[in-house]
Amino acid sequence: MSSTSIDSLLHEKRRFAPDPDFAANAVAGTELYERAADDRLAFWAEQARDLVHWHRPFTETLDWSKAPVARWFGDGELNVAYNCLDRHVLAGHGDRVAIHWEGEPGDTRSLTYAELTVEVKRAANLLASLGVGQGDRVAIYLPVIPEAVIAMLAVARLGAVHSVVFGGFAAESLRARIDDAGAKLVITADGAYRKGKVLPLKPAVDAALAAGETTVEKVLVVRRGENEIDWTAGRDLWWHDEIAPMSDEHDARGFEAENPLFILYTSGTTGKPKGILHTSGGYLTQVAFTHKNVFDLKPESDVYWCTADVGWITGHSYVVYGPLANGATQLLYEGTPDTPHPGRWWELIEKYKVSIFYTAPTAIRSFMKLGREIPQKFDLSSLRLLGSVGEPINPEAWVWYREIIGGGTAPIVDTWWQTETGAIMISALPGITTTKPGAAQVPLPGISVDVLDEEGAHVGKEAGGLLVLTEPWPSMLRGIWGDEQRYKDTYWSKFANTYFAGDGAHLDEDGDVWLLGRVDDVMNISGHRLSTMEIESALVSHELTAEAAVVGAHDDTTGQAVVAFVILKGRLAGTVTPQEASDLLRAHVAEQIGAIARPRQVFVVEELPKTRSGKIMRRLLQDVAEGREVGDTTTLTDTSVIRIISDTMK
Ligand code: WT7
Repeated sequence: MSSTSIDSLLHEKRRFAPDPDFAANAVAGTELYERAADDRLAFWAEQARDLVHWHRPFTETLDWSKAPVARWFGDGELNVAYNCLDRHVLAGHGDRVAIHWEGEPGDTRSLTYAELTVEVKRAANLLASLGVGQGDRVAIYLPVIPEAVIAMLAVARLGAVHSVVFGGFAAESLRARIDDAGAKLVITADGAYRKGKVLPLKPAVDAALAAGETTVEKVLVVRRGENEIDWTAGRDLWWHDEIAPMSDEHDARGFEAENPLFILYTSGTTGKPKGILHTSGGYLTQVAFTHKNVFDLKPESDVYWCTADVGWITGHSYVVYGPLANGATQLLYEGTPDTPHPGRWWELIEKYKVSIFYTAPTAIRSFMKLGREIPQKFDLSSLRLLGSVGEPINPEAWVWYREIIGGGTAPIVDTWWQTETGAIMISALPGITTTKPGAAQVPLPGISVDVLDEEGAHVGKEAGGLLVLTEPWPSMLRGIWGDEQRYKDTYWSKFANTYFAGDGAHLDEDGDVWLLGRVDDVMNISGHRLSTMEIESALVSHELTAEAAVVGAHDDTTGQAVVAFVILKGRLAGTVTPQEASDLLRAHVAEQIGAIARPRQVFVVEELPKTRSGKIMRRLLQDVAEGREVGDTTTLTDTSVIRIISDTMK
């Protein structure tokens, strides 16, 4: 975040007390805070017994003796898919709609809990027939269609491990993730609908697998786009052909609570993405607890909609596992917000009578730009609760969200968490918390948060520092796949026995938390995490580039935008104009990583500002990219560099 927006955040004084009617019917009560404060572990054990079905009950809550790798509910056994499906059917809710799905072109499909359970059982039988068993890794590269949810749950049902790769990632990124996890199966689709066109997906899988020896044995292809695709006989299988003969009987057996559930790759401060590992019992407990209490879920009457793609952690925890564990009815939408018209989301809310809506600030800001007239054409009166996630929400967007989308009454929950935390950690509880626009505010019951200075001392009220988590929590990551040392170094080495989140935070006069953005070389573009190093490596992999530096610069809509500075190789510099080089390099990054990583701007420069020890001064480049006066340059090797860069940008 730029310093000006932090400033406006910290001067925000508006307060919104809970509506008494809402509070009277709220799911969460203040006793949750009391119970958790009284006995944190007993509180989590109660939630685990209450919200999760155990094939074998646990007797032990937390084993932290191998810290920082936790064991939660370690001697218990459960089946995550059974918890999301069969038990609701057995409880008499088989006819409740689990998923109202709408494709971008307007085709629809609804699945009740009974129907979804049958689909997952058949898919589990299919995967088992392809040799997938406990512990095997399955890569899922699908659009937001019901098969994405079915595939994830089928993998979970077998005790295997999914690695969902966002469909917007390119072949190289997909390949790196497949290799790192050692996946034996890939589940993909021919294509997906995106902005009115079919975006082919299968070619990226073909390209990924063509790049040398692979662990992948089979590729299951869901038909969605009906686009022409290449076919590798013996390896590629159509999902619909293979699933047709499968039995709809499948017994879900229990797996131990710490059985790995999924790996999800996220960007860190180096070029190599981290495979964040989540396990079963603790994860399911905390996603179910938070989904129920933070969103005030009434499963009999609510229609819930989280707009995230299943390829991100929000899609895992708050499209798949949380809502389904709680027996919720939800909307799943394949497309972009503005296809075929800019009111598409509001039209969907009206059509399905969505009551709980969870999205990202970047989306809210882009709707704000388009004007209130668009949402005001639709009946949004079914909405009773709004959520925000992914980046700090600026107070203006918060107030617009409440007024224009929430009819001036819907409480907003600004939820802070990370791929690593697995579930929401800091958020208001609706009906209890008096909300403050722009602040995530309070740790949830059972969660211990602090803000420390560089030396590890608590900063006190009305002060800023680094956000940390001081006690283990049930849905915490259990490590980085295949790299325990990196897990320790990244999160547990800055402060002793304390999880370092990588975010800056401020505590206000009430001790409430205001998030201020990342303090490391991780950018947040439209709520998606990207590493500066990863994009720099993509840039230098192009023959034109000698050196590159990337920063996240403030952007009014996307929060941050990727801005790159590159030095061209001397002998090639004359062969292209700076504009041509910039176009080529922007396209190259999109091709290497995916369209989300495409820089907003690439500036061709003569030199990059470095410290005497040779480190690129990204802070300074960020000042330049955001058009600020360039700050302290006394440690630079050559102060003229900044002047040259600033001049180039004018
Ligand atoms: C980073 C985690 C959590 C799901 C989506 C992103 C930022 C997330 C908030 C919020 C301020 C937020 C942080 C965090 N972030 N939610 N409510 N207020 N910042 O997951 O890709 O793992 O990114 O997103 O910087 O560290 P992710």
